Amino acid sequence: MNRKKFVWRLMPLMAALAFLLTGCGDPTLSALDPKGPVAQEQLFLMKLSLGVMIFVFTVVMALYIYVLIRYRKRKGQEGVPKQVEGSHVLEVVWTVIPIILLIIIAVPTVYYTFKHSENYTENENILQVKVTAHQYWWQFEYPQHGINTAQDLVIPVGQPVAFEVVASDVIHSFWVPSLGGKIDTLVGQTNVTYLQADEPAVYRGKCAELCGASHALMDFKVVAMEQADFDAWVSNIQSPPAVPDSVAQGEEVFRTNCLSCHAVGADGMSMGPNLTGFADREMIAGILEHTDENLKNWISDTQSIKPGNKMPSFNLSDEQMNQLVDYLNELKLQ
Ligand code: CUA
Repeated sequence: MNRKKFVWRLMPLMAALAFLLTGCGDPTLSALDPKGPVAQEQLFLMKLSLGVMIFVFTVVMALYIYVLIRYRKRKGQEGVPKQVEGSHVLEVVWTVIPIILLIIIAVPTVYYTFKHSENYTENENILQVKVTAHQYWWQFEYPQHGINTAQDLVIPVGQPVAFEVVASDVIHSFWVPSLGGKIDTLVGQTNVTYLQADEPAVYRGKCAELCGASHALMDFKVVAMEQADFDAWVSNIQSPPAVPDSVAQGEEVFRTNCLSCHAVGADGMSMGPNLTGFADREMIAGILEHTDENLKNWISDTQSIKPGNKMPSFNLSDEQMNQLVDYLNELKLQ
């Protein structure tokens, strides 16, 4: 086969590989691109097991091919070849080597499993966050600061943050691929974990347990910031500025239609996401870019955007909708 033909025949393979590798892109949503110590240590475990497996595969394949070629049936060869059985040396070799390989995998795996199960939830020097998963959104409470918020999990960088995770309805799973995890959120049982981000950035979080029609849309953001910025965020969300009088009509629309499910005020608990600082959040409903158009689409037809979610759709007049959106856009933290 000439060179040109060979390259040509390689093309489908290359195309298939390129297609597969496109899944490895998003730097804020990849366990292969860790941004904190937990994720780094977990990636180390993945690489270690993969390395050992590649080693075993290579050695076994090499022996296999060697034996196939070396002991193939040759011209003029007749009958069954001489049978060899029982070799103490070989048996010891293929028993001892796997034991050594298992120890190489087991020691760090057990060590990091215990390390990552460390319970920091009693440690008052560490930021405590209580995560509650709902179909299909995330609630974040900061008991040390009296804050209840949703969808954007704000944390300081360079230190572990302790999480207590639960679910309100069905089993979900709390996962921030670039920081580590994941951990199931259950109803009536609290699981604990911790994560740490090293660089200020916005990381994507996902629900990692099939929980209903909009499981794949159950996103949240981890907004990691320097300690000083975090402290400012805490005091801002505790006492956000009052909305201007110009949106008083929108506030009335909100009171009539939304307030029964959505609290405003960082200490407020509600059935739906607390909307304090809503205008500053990264996304609408965790998945939509923050535009007036998207906000209107969301409010007027929530089911087409997140099927099965518990927020009803609202049939407001254009005027009311505009007033409501103007009001929501004023729910800023500073
Ligand atoms: Cu919640 Cu999947």
